[in-house]
Amino acid sequence: MTFLVQGYLREIGQQVSVVQRSVNEMEELLLLWRTPAGVPDPVQPASLHVRHGAIAFEHVTFTYPGQPDPLFNDLSVQIAAGSRVGLVGPSGSGKSSFTKLLLRLYAQNSGRILVDGVDTATVRQSDLRSQIALVPQEPLLFHRSLAENIAYGRPDATPEQIEHAARLANAADFIERLPEGYATLVGERGIKLSGGERQRVAIARAFLADARILVLDEATASLDSQSEALVQEAMERLMEGRTVLIVAHRLATVVGLDRILVFQHGQIVEDAPHAQLVQRTGGLYQQLYALQSL
Ligand SMILES: Nc1ncnc2c1ncn2[C@@H]1O[C@H](COP(=O)(O)OP(=O)(O)OP(=O)(O)O)[C@@H](O)[C@H]1O
Ligand SMILES: [Mg+2]
Repeated sequence: MTFLVQGYLREIGQQVSVVQRSVNEMEELLLLWRTPAGVPDPVQPASLHVRHGAIAFEHVTFTYPGQPDPLFNDLSVQIAAGSRVGLVGPSGSGKSSFTKLLLRLYAQNSGRILVDGVDTATVRQSDLRSQIALVPQEPLLFHRSLAENIAYGRPDATPEQIEHAARLANAADFIERLPEGYATLVGERGIKLSGGERQRVAIARAFLADARILVLDEATASLDSQSEALVQEAMERLMEGRTVLIVAHRLATVVGLDRILVFQHGQIVEDAPHAQLVQRTGGLYQQLYALQSL
């Protein structure tokens, strides 16, 4: 009897600690849920339907909270609908911040950012972000099935649509080779995907989102050349017929684009296609290019 009772008591003890942990996790979730959004939505949001995908920054000044000096000071630039624009420049020059302002992850201090002529400060943020697809530098996968991960931006997508997106993203082959296919769990406690595979899942997400504006933040970590080629090919396919901003770390990515914006200390110091920029003697792009083609 002593042993039996001891066994039961131990089990009760274990259950109590499980309950304790769940309560703690729920408390954290509630805390997060109650945190007000960093950028508030307008009280009476205007509607946004991105048809063409033109982008304009007008006299934008922006200082990161807690920083003494502005990163962008009176920055203006127009990006035509359907054009493919590369953002290059040294580390810390403001490339990622530029895309964050476009997505309104931060609010500018003054000036306007327009998408198809609509001031992004006047629309609901969820509206804006559902119409700009983002392939981040380090795509985040959730502890969910691959299918759910791909459908993240469009939870109502059918299995056929998900599969089609995966195929366009060059992800279908590796997914179908997994024993459980699209039902395979990924993330923290699921299978681990390689960097290139994760990127292709993120590209499949963007295909499914089918937005007119696409923001690609190129991975800094280098992939093996085969994986690289698959990602590159999927990106080319994804760019078709959209306005594209690519933050590029390897200049090979931007050589074929319509236009390259060269950032330095929060300013756009050069703005032209590759062929013109490499010829500008003493230009920043020419220097960066010389460094990378050593
Ligand atoms: N959340 C933040 N708070 C304060 N300062 C920030 C924040 N994020 C970026 N910065 C600063 O803003 C500047 C621009 O950063 P940003 O991330 O836009 O550079 P980047 O051009 O994308 O660089 P990289 O090529 O390394 O990705 C940097 O000086 C950086 O330290
Ligand atoms: Mg960056």
